[in-house]
Amino acid sequence: MNAPVEGFSKFSKEEKIRWIAQNYTSYPEQAEQLLKRYWNTDAAVQKIHDEFIENTISNYYLPFAIAPNFLINGEYYAIPMTIEESSVVAAASKAAKFWLSRGGFKTEVLGTEKVGQVHFMFKGDTSKLSRFFSEIKQDLIKDTSGITRSMEKRGGGITNIELRDKTDAIDNYYQLHCTFETLDAMGANFINSCLEQLAKTLKEKASAHSDFTQEEKAVEIVMSILSNYVPKCTVKAEVSCPVEALNEDGMSPQDFAKKMVQAVQIAKAEPYRAVTHNKGIMNGIDAVVLATGNDFRAIEAGIHAFAAKGGTYSSLTHASIEDGIFKFWIEVPLALGTVGGLTSLHPLVKLAMEILQNPTAKQLMQIIAVAGLAQNFAALRSLVTTGIQKGHMKMHLLNILNKMGASDSEKKELVHFFKERTVSNAAAKEALQNLRS
Ligand code: MEV
Repeated sequence: MNAPVEGFSKFSKEEKIRWIAQNYTSYPEQAEQLLKRYWNTDAAVQKIHDEFIENTISNYYLPFAIAPNFLINGEYYAIPMTIEESSVVAAASKAAKFWLSRGGFKTEVLGTEKVGQVHFMFKGDTSKLSRFFSEIKQDLIKDTSGITRSMEKRGGGITNIELRDKTDAIDNYYQLHCTFETLDAMGANFINSCLEQLAKTLKEKASAHSDFTQEEKAVEIVMSILSNYVPKCTVKAEVSCPVEALNEDGMSPQDFAKKMVQAVQIAKAEPYRAVTHNKGIMNGIDAVVLATGNDFRAIEAGIHAFAAKGGTYSSLTHASIEDGIFKFWIEVPLALGTVGGLTSLHPLVKLAMEILQNPTAKQLMQIIAVAGLAQNFAALRSLVTTGIQKGHMKMHLLNILNKMGASDSEKKELVHFFKERTVSNAAAKEALQNLRS
């Protein structure tokens, strides 16, 4: 049990499964069977999944769902979502329907600038480094031409390279701060390849620069890597309607609008609330990012940094009431790709893209921002009216019943039973016992 292993990556898939099952599980045979049960029956599809990462032994399923009825800039969308949380897709669909009859969502891409940096150490005279940089800037760009040619043909490439003096933060620390346009690609590989070439040229040119001392010639490259902080790769999505159109059960439209604005104000002022508020937004964003094969860790990191850009972690959404109009909007950074990566490899990602009418990266930014805004609207709507648990537990009921081993007919009856009752673990258990007796 719990033994170390040599050369695990060289084992066949069967050997890996046997090894992990025998060394790390209590019932190896069952573990092996379970892992194999999740293999795709189509060997070609399974092979694609096996090769995404190293040491694959099985597939990990998440639901792939659709939130229909999104009206975005006058076009209808059915949005694919991949997520495990029971109430998210229902909430998105409900928000989509709510705004469908109130003009839908309006969106706008505010920028598409991606960022990457070469971090390096230079011991010497900053003004000499600055002159040297101006002299070699064209060479830096020229030396990346093998990498940038095809991106440039399509209208993208390196948009700027700047020398940044960071010696205030760390002795001798400088950067090449580079910006990129990567069009429909997320661009991580493109950016990192460019940066590594820039670093190489910088080092070579410095070592041969006649104006530098020996110490200045010995520029030390620390690392070259894209940044997932993309505050100029942002998109705005918005909904608005006259306050009177916000008819809610049991609350006047004016009170509802006021409470929605207060809820956003609280999330702007109070980080404890802001984190949960934004978590709800990420329920929508991550689900579409995952379904479309994009990098949700990059998106999460970039968005949370953006939420803290004012020095305090704050709300990503905004709300106002002006001249009788309720307005609710989001502004978020989203560095996405609709070509490359998983987008052309994963069969369900390809389908998700097709369902979304094969969007450009800019179009996908708009769709995903809408998913985040819709999710936040749905969460706040519940929070300021009935409370979140009513809807959430209704959706969670099936999970509870499944955990208790309820049959299909029992589930059907109990879902009906709880239509007008409050769901809880205890109440579900009692209802199931009653039904069985
Ligand atoms: C739950 O996944 C998300 C919420 O907590 C978001 C919110 O509080 O705004 C409901």
